[in-house]
Amino acid sequence: EELKIFAPATVANLSCGFDVLGCCLDSVGDEMLIRKNDLNEVRITKITGQDLPLNADENVAGVAVKALLKELDSNEGFDIEINKKIKPGSGIGSSAASSAGAVFAVNKLLGEPFQKKDLISFAMQGELLASGNAHADNVAPALLGGFNLVRSYCPLEVLSLPVPSDLRVVVLHPLIEIKTKDSRSIIKQNVSLKSAINQWGNLGAFVSALYTEDYELLGRSLQDEIVEPVRSILIPYFRELDELVTENGALGFGISGSGPSVYALCRGDENAEKVKKSIQAFYSKKDIDFELHLSAIN
Ligand code: HSE
Repeated sequence: EELKIFAPATVANLSCGFDVLGCCLDSVGDEMLIRKNDLNEVRITKITGQDLPLNADENVAGVAVKALLKELDSNEGFDIEINKKIKPGSGIGSSAASSAGAVFAVNKLLGEPFQKKDLISFAMQGELLASGNAHADNVAPALLGGFNLVRSYCPLEVLSLPVPSDLRVVVLHPLIEIKTKDSRSIIKQNVSLKSAINQWGNLGAFVSALYTEDYELLGRSLQDEIVEPVRSILIPYFRELDELVTENGALGFGISGSGPSVYALCRGDENAEKVKKSIQAFYSKKDIDFELHLSAIN
């Protein structure tokens, strides 16, 4: 018995929702093949595309699957193959795709003892290994699709939010690696009341805008005065990109997850193409290699 799956990339934080907001990209992701073995052992049998640990205890997919099996008190064995298309340290949920994909597939192969929402906490164990912090804002959308809000971590409560149909995301990935662990370590641990007020105002408005399909409000809400000022320093031409995509009609712009990828939310394919082309033209003149994605949210 085996299952071949697509494990999607995700954009976490979306500026106004550090650690609590994320969305799932429908056309960027990894491929995984998971099959039962008779060895009572979880094995990472093959990884193509990237150089990542094959030891199951050092691999996010292995750790996440082991957490699931432990909860079931099961000694079933699985072989996991990953064709890694999302680069680690890209900021579009590379580790989350592997952890979420692995637990999703194993749950299916076991006859679905868990609901999809219950799988989030197992996948979070992969995030803990990768970044030193069990955040859910990538694994939740990778498992549930669309937009997700983590209302609470303890106890874990994740909400699915509606996706306005015209919404598109353009993601620029400058090919420098920023480890989530490192980019978490530079964030200030205290927030002023003034910043907190602005931030929860924007997050509330963003959620409201998803329900009312108010694209302008959605764009205005994509602001972050807590994390972005610190992390954006690590991203080449961040300010210039912000101005560029705004001039070209994007709804909003910010850091994707912990960077270095940045995202622009756009209304409709036509505008998203225009924004993508403008970034392409701008970044081609710089001496940094990059990848560009245009995706719907699903
Ligand atoms: N919320 C996490 C962070 C996402 O910003 O560190 C990491 O992709």
